[in-house]
Amino acid sequence: MQLKKIMLATCAFSVLAVSAAHSQTIGKAEDQVRWRQSAFSTMGWSMGRIKANVSGTYNKEQVTQAANTLQALANSDIGSLFAPGTESAKGWKKTEVKPALFTDKEGANKAWASFAKEADELAKVAAASDAAAVKTQFGKVGQACKGCHDKFRVEH
Ligand code: HEC
Repeated sequence: MQLKKIMLATCAFSVLAVSAAHSQTIGKAEDQVRWRQSAFSTMGWSMGRIKANVSGTYNKEQVTQAANTLQALANSDIGSLFAPGTESAKGWKKTEVKPALFTDKEGANKAWASFAKEADELAKVAAASDAAAVKTQFGKVGQACKGCHDKFRVEH
């Protein structure tokens, strides 16, 4: 029920404001943290699948699925799930975001943009090329993940 409402709200919003620079805030703080943690976990899964393929038996279908998932998530505006008030909220677990992500907007935007660029390229390479080319581009995506984590995610 809740999800249906959210989906309707999202659809209505995209129809009305396709060109808006910032999407409206959707969800309570704990929802936002849960959603972003879930999205990042799915990224971890997808990177794990590609890694297994480029270092073992290569299955193009599996790599394409994972690369397309990464591309979709990289272009889904996860940044909008870091609304003020979510700096120290709890989702599935306490958030691991660093306060810097909320203050260094330029740095955060750069990190999102470089991730989107590399993920777009990975989807292209996965559709068109062989394991060696995918492995190289996979490394660049990994650097984009790490670049953001180094700056904006609490270390374990
Ligand atoms: C622009 C910044 C940024 C990029 C790019 C990014 N991450 Fe993260 N990641 C974060 C932040 C911030 C958190 C902490 C989220 C929270 O707990 O609220 C996080 C959390 C995670 C988590 C833990 C999720 C959980 O709570 O269990 C995983 C796994 C992860 N990221 C994987 C990745 C992978 C893989 C990529 C690249 C394919 C990636 N991330 C790209 C910022 C980023």
